[in-house]
Amino acid sequence: MIYGKILGIETSCDETGASIVESNGQTLRVVSNALSTSIKLHVKTGGIIPESAAREQLKYIIPVLKEALQTTKITNPAKQIDAIAVTVGPGLIGSLLVGVETAKTLSYIWKIPIIPVNHLYGHIFANFIGEMSNVKSQISKDIRFPAIALVVSGGHTDLVLMKNFNDLEWIGGTRDDAAGECLDKVGRLLGLPYPAGAEIEKLAEKGNPKRFIFPSPLIDSKDFDFSFSGLKTAVLREVEAIEQLNNQTIQDISASVQNAVIKVLVKKTLKAAKEFNARSILLGGGVAANNSLRENFKFQISNFKLDTKLFVPDKKLCTDNAAMIAAAGFFAKESSWKAIDASPSLHF
Ligand code: KG4
Ligand code: ZN
Repeated sequence: MIYGKILGIETSCDETGASIVESNGQTLRVVSNALSTSIKLHVKTGGIIPESAAREQLKYIIPVLKEALQTTKITNPAKQIDAIAVTVGPGLIGSLLVGVETAKTLSYIWKIPIIPVNHLYGHIFANFIGEMSNVKSQISKDIRFPAIALVVSGGHTDLVLMKNFNDLEWIGGTRDDAAGECLDKVGRLLGLPYPAGAEIEKLAEKGNPKRFIFPSPLIDSKDFDFSFSGLKTAVLREVEAIEQLNNQTIQDISASVQNAVIKVLVKKTLKAAKEFNARSILLGGGVAANNSLRENFKFQISNFKLDTKLFVPDKKLCTDNAAMIAAAGFFAKESSWKAIDASPSLHF
């Protein structure tokens, strides 16, 4: 689909999102983006409890949808919206079902098509919001192909070769923990609230990244894989050896662990960019909100004089949201409500 309005729905993890994104054939514009999170519930438990997340999403889904529609003055969705894009996976089954069943019901009542969207594609297509142009000829003015996309979130760390809008090939990913998951687990060791990525970023600003030498696993491996569980264990050993964690030590550990994660993410992504002659690098996922990661990418791209351009979504479009799902919907195939199912272990 090139023109029109898509309603995006996202409920794969702890967020409940509904958004309307509009395309004029040149640009993708976010018209509304409503989001509700159950994160406060999970802060206490240090991780997401799937059952509680899904129950909260059942409560939030209608109010969030209403908000997305009301702020855009859509009074007759059956006429004013062209399709519904919904996250079908990967994610927590109870959570996914809330969004998928809601989308199927609306598609049936409003008699408009439904577009199943892979959440990971959503993180990548967040980069096309405000950027898409000349879609008719399938060439974006600014984002050029081939592109290398790094999806780096709480559940995923994947490198994808994108030859075109609809030609994506997974080239590597984490063999164990995701980068965000590693930061969240380190956060728990340091007594920080869940999720810890953004808090570690703040603490790292005042810390010394050279005080602790943590490993950057697989940094020199020939493939495009990652591994972060060893890094988490290395931090655990260090924390166990420290008698009392004071503020300075927490800041120094934060800076050192963030540094170890960034080093390997940047090196592997640039290695892929060189190997595939990528003209663009696209970042996506919650960890892509990290300023040091963004700056490090910029610095290394110019340092190595790489002929590639970096794209990073707005911070609020890096973490889970429904606008990215609507955006991905513009590039995916329409379907019927009868053919859609939640798919918790969907991959690229
Ligand atoms: O994409 P996302 O919202 O959800 C998933 O699909 O997983 O990503 C959440 C992850 C969490 O691990 C969180 O700690 C991390 O993104 N995160 C960050 C930052 N903001 C969120 N990590 C590093 N720096 C940040 N500023
Ligand atoms: Zn996500």
